[in-house]
Amino acid sequence: MTPSPSWDSPPKTLRLPSNAVHVWRASLVVPVSYLRTLEGTLTADECARAERFYFQEHRERFIAGRGLLRNILSRYLDSEPGQLRFRYNSYGKPALTAETGAEGFCFNLSHSYDTALYAVTHGREIGVDIERFRPDVEVEKLAERFFSPREAAVLRALPEDLRKEGFFNCWTRKEAYIKAEGEGMSIPLSAFDVSLTPGEPAALLRSQNSPQETSRWSLQALDPKPGYAAALAVKGHDWELTCWQWSPM
Ligand SMILES: CC(C)(COP(=O)(O)OP(=O)(O)OC[C@H]1O[C@@H](n2cnc3c(N)ncnc32)[C@H](O)[C@@H]1OP(=O)(O)O)[C@@H](O)C(=O)NCCC(=O)NCCS
Repeated sequence: MTPSPSWDSPPKTLRLPSNAVHVWRASLVVPVSYLRTLEGTLTADECARAERFYFQEHRERFIAGRGLLRNILSRYLDSEPGQLRFRYNSYGKPALTAETGAEGFCFNLSHSYDTALYAVTHGREIGVDIERFRPDVEVEKLAERFFSPREAAVLRALPEDLRKEGFFNCWTRKEAYIKAEGEGMSIPLSAFDVSLTPGEPAALLRSQNSPQETSRWSLQALDPKPGYAAALAVKGHDWELTCWQWSPM
């Protein structure tokens, strides 16, 4: 299996060549003073969204998640974090507006509990997903409900001590692919199969849509930190992955 690269400190000046994919890992728990700085970069609609969270913890994580997204994107673009403007497709996938002057710049993000991943690239669809291993998940039950029959069968056949890892491999790969496609849950989860066996490469194995779909996409397992699983889905194959650990500049 292709190992996930280590999470390095980024250089001051970042380059994103056309075949590059960068994934950033960030903690959503930031000091209050920095949270206020991040909040100051959000637009009115993002602040209104933050206000709708009932729990302060969730509100703060949303603010941190959006603020860090803006911070990361602005490192590549000739814009201040607060100047970036997003548009959303009809399934909610965010992208930069044309006025941002970042044609072809693609990104996606995912957050789970206190950790976020941000994936950026040029001119190719991309999706990322991170999930914390929750101790209470009923792996077999959820697999029967959400996975394809083939995935559920592969999971059932795994030794019991590998089942939770296999489950989260499958979950994050399916989500990453769905997020890269950007059409949300309109793609039935049983309409495609991904690999899930621990130690085997991440891959899209079958798609009901078209047999060519499997060769159009590459999936990559990421290793965000202990207790979490993550995956990346990228259109095409000729790309190179670098992983960065976010820290304030
Ligand atoms: C919304 C969805 C895109 C991901 O939801 P999620 O896994 O709960 O959340 P994540 O943290 O991974 O991703 C959320 C981010 O993805 C982005 N996003 C939203 N809609 C998106 C879409 N249609 N496509 C791609 N990205 C999307 C947003 O930036 C969002 O962050 P924000 O709300 O802070 O702006 C969607 O796939 C979903 O509802 N999934 C349901 C989960 C499920 O049943 N999964 C079964 C998998 S086997």
